[in-house]
Amino acid sequence: MNRTTITTLQKMKAAGEKIVAITAYDASFAQQCEAAGVDLLLVGDSLGMVVQGHQDTLPVTVDEMVYHTACVARASRSTLLVADMPFMGYATTGQALDTAARLMKAGGAQMVKLEGGVPQLETVRYLSERGVPVCGHLGLTPQSVHQLGGYRVQGRDQAAATAMLEEAVALQEAGAQLLVLECVPRTLAAEITRNLEIPVIGIGAGPDTDGQVLVLYDVIGISVNRIPKFARDFMSGADGIQGALRAYVEAVREGRFPGPEHVFD
Ligand code: KIV
Repeated sequence: MNRTTITTLQKMKAAGEKIVAITAYDASFAQQCEAAGVDLLLVGDSLGMVVQGHQDTLPVTVDEMVYHTACVARASRSTLLVADMPFMGYATTGQALDTAARLMKAGGAQMVKLEGGVPQLETVRYLSERGVPVCGHLGLTPQSVHQLGGYRVQGRDQAAATAMLEEAVALQEAGAQLLVLECVPRTLAAEITRNLEIPVIGIGAGPDTDGQVLVLYDVIGISVNRIPKFARDFMSGADGIQGALRAYVEAVREGRFPGPEHVFD
């Protein structure tokens, strides 16, 4: 089976084919997600909340991210494997390079994701120029939850929306090859997606991004916290985990997820 690469995702964007991404934290679920036909596995630092039971993602360490990325990588055959750089794992360019190197060499990640716009431009450029594929993450950036004052929709007023669009373009120019947009109004996500050449994957960003990502445990209805408005429990009506994962993949591919009830205005 051919592995999905960033080139595959660029072609999907150009062809208007929806990209399906999901988080995974271990080998068995990675295998299930790939069997269901997802394109991209994200070893998200959301594991701090859904696996480790923390209140937020801040306590997750680089060692833990490397461990979970390696677990997923051992089972992964067909997807692009992206791993999150955890909070304080990329505070300087040198530290970012060390963390990315560990995630790629010991963890087996094929791309690393980091949160933030303007403050991360130097780091994105530094990593990209050294051969590290980078995914940006704008909108609600959970590692900044205490600066943001909670898990809130971002980019609602005109000034914030304009700034986010500019940051997205700047991340692309700095070398980011993929962008995650989390919890932003549908119209802003659509505008950013139209203005970028790189694929844009949304979570709580409406149906007009190039693809969707959800936290696996929300998709199969077992998250410790309540399922967010933008997610859907695909287990209801499914005949098991594989059925739920396939239902998620089909719903995204066919443009049926996210629906109007999952969107922010
Ligand atoms: O950590 C994570 O799971 C993420 C997704 C929510 C995009 O960053």
